[in-house]
Amino acid sequence: LNPAGHAGQEGTLLMERTRARGASSGFKVAVLGAAGGIGQPLSLLLKTSPLVSTLHLFDVVNTPGVTADLSHINSSAVVRGFVGNDQLPAALDGVDLVVIPAGVPRKPGMTRDDLFNINAGIVQKLCEGIAKHCPRAVVNIISNPVNSTVPIAAEVFKRAGTWDPRKVLGVTALDVVRANTFVAEVIGVNPEIVDVPVVGGHAGVTILPLLSQVTPSFSFSKEETEKLTVRIQDAGTEVVQAKAGTGSATLSMAYAAAKFAEQCLRGLSGETGIVECAYVSSDVTELPFFATKVRLGRSGVEEIHPLGPLNEFERSALSKAIGELKGSIDKGLNFVRK
Ligand code: NAI
Repeated sequence: LNPAGHAGQEGTLLMERTRARGASSGFKVAVLGAAGGIGQPLSLLLKTSPLVSTLHLFDVVNTPGVTADLSHINSSAVVRGFVGNDQLPAALDGVDLVVIPAGVPRKPGMTRDDLFNINAGIVQKLCEGIAKHCPRAVVNIISNPVNSTVPIAAEVFKRAGTWDPRKVLGVTALDVVRANTFVAEVIGVNPEIVDVPVVGGHAGVTILPLLSQVTPSFSFSKEETEKLTVRIQDAGTEVVQAKAGTGSATLSMAYAAAKFAEQCLRGLSGETGIVECAYVSSDVTELPFFATKVRLGRSGVEEIHPLGPLNEFERSALSKAIGELKGSIDKGLNFVRK
């Protein structure tokens, strides 16, 4: 910078070269719902990710401001804003990864299923855009109820002839982040070294932490298992109640979603051994969609891990989860089919 704080011609060239270098090594990512409670901090985290070369911010309102703000951060990702449905095609053009936190969040007293009617329509429309403008992109779906919005996305892509089960992932990463935090408190270790597989889905009893498979291994008492399981299942409601009508988890969700998106990008870049929990098209149970650990690679989901050995508590919780998930999946499929 020169004394007046401007880059000058030489500086501008240097900045362009730096950006071009970043662009050649990173991916093009679009956030749909980028001006929202999750969308803004998620976009901030992705703007600072070395894996992202271009960041497209789409929303029906307020993206010009968010874009101007984030574009001043001196990380290499180039940020572009798109506002209103007319600009959705441009927002999706050439994108490698689409992250969808668009929709309305829960208020106290609401379940994730109460959001169904509004968010189902939003996810359907956005996925119709993806099928048209970036049919090969990996899609991360955050909008609730995830248990139904992922089947909705799949049905939209099937109708459009672009369905690739490896590319559509419901984001359950926040359940894992929460489980790791709460388990670490009980074991008394740094939460960063804890890994709890969370399977099933992303609502109430469909969220099933497999505490018998925790790393580092730990033998929980029956009481600890029951308490931890319920706390992990109800953690979203803890936040909804504490926010007292102003929304649901946004900051922890943005953190979890950004980490998850980065893992998808690492897989796309050819890095090996990337394993995360996600709600995907699956044949691990009799249901068409289910969350388990999956291995991510160049094509998206490359391998679905089995559930592994379950104890009696987990087997009984699994059958409850399957019963409820079935209804949510059918509800999503019927929404598009009707
Ligand atoms: P928010 O209301 O703060 O933001 C949603 C954004 O979506 C708004 O900026 C809104 O303008 C935008 N939007 C609405 N219709 C749109 C459309 N057709 N196209 C593009 N953007 C559109 O809500 P918040 O708190 O960010 O939550 C977003 C969603 O994420 C909710 O459905 C919420 O339930 C879900 N969620 C999911 C979690 C998970 O673990 N998967 C955790 C927490 C929330």
